[in-house]
Formats: sequence, C-alpha cells, structure tokens
Amino acid sequence: MKNTVENSFPFITRKTPMKNILFVSSSPSGWNSYSHQFASHIVDDLKARHPGAKVVVRDVAKEPLPHVDAAFATGRALPPEKRSPAEAEALALSDILLAELEAADVLVLAVPMHNFGVPSTLKAWIDHVVRPGRAFSYSEKGPEGLLKGKKAVVVVARGGVYSEGPARQFDFQEPYLRAVLGFIGITNVRVVRVEGMAMGEQALKNAMASAKAQSEKIVREFAQLDSSPDTTLSGALA
Ligand SMILES: Cc1cc2nc3c(=O)[nH]c(=O)nc-3n(C[C@H](O)[C@H](O)[C@H](O)COP(=O)(O)O)c2cc1C
Repeated sequence: MKNTVENSFPFITRKTPMKNILFVSSSPSGWNSYSHQFASHIVDDLKARHPGAKVVVRDVAKEPLPHVDAAFATGRALPPEKRSPAEAEALALSDILLAELEAADVLVLAVPMHNFGVPSTLKAWIDHVVRPGRAFSYSEKGPEGLLKGKKAVVVVARGGVYSEGPARQFDFQEPYLRAVLGFIGITNVRVVRVEGMAMGEQALKNAMASAKAQSEKIVREFAQLDSSPDTTLSGALA
C-alpha cells in the first residue's frame, strides 16, 4: 500500500471535490462591468480546476427578481403546509433560488457599488434567500447560520477608493455583504476589490493589476485547500 497521509491517519480525509458553483452577477453594465469581468474569470478558473463542477449563473441585473411582497413576508415564516396559495406562490421562486445556494460549494458574487451599498437587484436576491428555517435559525444561543461549509468570493467594484482613506466610513457594501453572508453561515469569504475606477487612467490601471493579482491568489488558495488533507477532525481528536 502506498504510504500516504490518509493511510497513516485514516481519520484524515481529502476534501470533497467542488461540485457546484453559483455565480450571482449584479452589474447593469454587462460585459463592460469590472465586477462581472473579474468574477467571470474566477468562475472560469475554478471550472478549469474542477471540470466536473456545474456552474449556475444568476444575472440579477439582466433578469431582475421581483421585490418581496406581503404574501412573501408572512409565508416565509410558515412551514409549507401552513401557507395560503398566495403565500406558496410568493415563495416558489425563492425556493428555487435558495435551492441553488444550498447546493453551491462556492458562491461567486459580482457586485458594483451603488450609492455606497449593493445594487437593489442584488438586495432582492438576498431578500429571497435569507429565510428563517432554511438559511438561519434562532435559538436561546442566538442566531445560527444554516448554510455552513461553503466558500464565497465577492468581487466589489467601485468608482472611488473605500478600502482606506476618508471614504472608508462610507463603505456599506463589503461590510454588509460579509455580515449577511456570515449571518447565514458563510464565513469563508474572500473579497476582490476593484476600486478607484473613476479616479483617472493610472488609478484604473493600478486597480486592474491589483484585482488580477487578488483574483489569482484566491483561486490558488482554493486549489490548495481543495487538495490538502482536511485536518479539522484530527485537530478535534488531538
Ligand atoms: C447607480 C450608481 C451608483 C453608484 N454609486 C457609487 C458610489 O456610491 N461610490 C462609488 O465609488 N462609485 C459609485 N458608482 C460607480 C460604480 O461603483 C463603478 O462604476 C463600478 O465600476 C461599477 O461596477 P461595475 O463596473 O461592475 O458595473 C455608482 C454607479 C452607479 C451606476
């Protein structure tokens, strides 16, 4: 028998392969969008490393989701058998969107900054998927995210610079996304910042180079994580 780490320590298992990638894109600018371009490259790279992975694309700018309504608001808190026909109908699309997220090993979000926050189209997607009982629950210990074990890559694009300097306090985009993803249990979040795109030619050039380096690093790190032994269990046993 080959002398491998797994043979020596049978409780150390290899990570399962990436099966599903969910790509949610939210820029109205299509292929001219920086967030969409960088996020697409990341999805392509992940797919190249995991040829068997299925990619589901939700372009919420091209095909906007409805805003949630009264029937959704009441129905989301009820078990399916207790919902009225109107509530069931209001939740049907949400069920599909949530199933896509539940199935995903990796979530890739392309997010332009709109007025210091996320586009309303992406906010609508968030409202559809962050549902009690499916994405989070409450207990006496407080809220618990139910969508654990996933990775997320968030590509944020901005005209200005928000990672440092005076505009930092106005960044309600990245902290919001980290908070809401964390709330539903997605805490392994990597962020690619494409910023300063409206600050002149040199700033744009620098931002493109920096975003490319950030993206490549993340894909490399994910590849290493996927092929390295999972020592979580051995750590717990030690
Ligand atoms: C409606 C709207 C609001 C915007 N608000 C901001 C903003 O608050 N701060 C900022 O730096 N850039 C803002 N921008 C500029 C975009 O963030 C910038 O063009 C970015 O590249 C958009 O991402 P995208 O290229 O992926 O579409 C705004 C653009 C639009 C269309």
